[in-house]
Amino acid sequence: MGAGRGELVTGVLEALPAEVASRARGYAVERAARPAGLDHRIEWLPEPPPGVTGLLFANEWLDNVPLDVAEVDAKGTVRLVLVRQDGTESLGEPVTGAEAEWLARWWPLTDPPEGRLLRPEASDDPLPSPEAPGSPLPAEDVLPVLPPTEDLRPPAEGLQGPAGGLPVATEGLRAEVGLPRDAAWAAAVASLGQGLAVAVDYAHFAGARPPFGTLTGFREGRETAPVPDGSCDITAHVALDACALPGARLLSQREALGALGVSGERPSLGLASTDPTAYVRALAGAGEAAELTARGGLGDFGWLLQPVGIPDPLPGGEQPST
Ligand SMILES: C[S@@+](CC[C@H](N)C(=O)[O-])C[C@H]1O[C@@H](n2cnc3c(N)ncnc32)[C@H](O)[C@@H]1O
Repeated sequence: MGAGRGELVTGVLEALPAEVASRARGYAVERAARPAGLDHRIEWLPEPPPGVTGLLFANEWLDNVPLDVAEVDAKGTVRLVLVRQDGTESLGEPVTGAEAEWLARWWPLTDPPEGRLLRPEASDDPLPSPEAPGSPLPAEDVLPVLPPTEDLRPPAEGLQGPAGGLPVATEGLRAEVGLPRDAAWAAAVASLGQGLAVAVDYAHFAGARPPFGTLTGFREGRETAPVPDGSCDITAHVALDACALPGARLLSQREALGALGVSGERPSLGLASTDPTAYVRALAGAGEAAELTARGGLGDFGWLLQPVGIPDPLPGGEQPST
């Protein structure tokens, strides 16, 4: 789902044992055109085929599903953010209806109990893109996300203002209204007849949302202003807990890959003397696994597991209440 150039489905088909590959079909669901030279066994589709039995895997899809941005104005009213094609922003109508309900439930624009928030200093330093294919990221360059190892939601009664009155909202606080991602995920999951749907993405969770949002542009692998003129990719991290349907589970990538036996542990030195080639291969694999599971890096990616008509296949992690 959101297959890009089909690298993952190609790799999976190549890695399957012949007996399994002979009865498996690979579908790449993607808006972009089919790349030339793609394995002829892979079907290229604009929508998920209905009724599949198997695995639906969406890596960095949901962060590209467009959404509205909301911001608190000087009077404390939450308004839609409007944007011109040159990237200039202004505030529009107050957020109402289903979007307001979504915000109240998943991303209330109130100050945290410890006090008012200051907008972070803007930095001119370009960051390597987490989306750039084949560019291993230094851990410190990946925006941190919080793995869902505990229930991070605010108390049900909401946050109280100084005198126990209405919650306080600082001008400039922002939220990204995840309703279209929730709907997109629900539709993708509904296409599965039986199996497992997995979404992997830059994620945040209730109680620890980024106070000024995450809307970002990427051009040629570098972070840039999110100007909606077609000159850059535009992305915003995913409120993955809001996407979760009943029966879903949220894990960090570190937890998910750990449960699949990918740990990043170095091979024993003994192997170096008995089988140097195997040692070098194992060492390279451990390096890749360490990068994929790094704290403060790719290991903090969120994984949303959604079993459909099967038991939850992975041990560990949290069961979100939806
Ligand atoms: C950030 S890329 C990720 C590509 C690939 N999954 C990867 O991890 O390298 C997101 C992809 O999702 C595709 N996409 C976005 N919305 C889509 C939709 N509604 N249906 C199909 N593809 C979509 C985009 O065209 C883009 O190729």
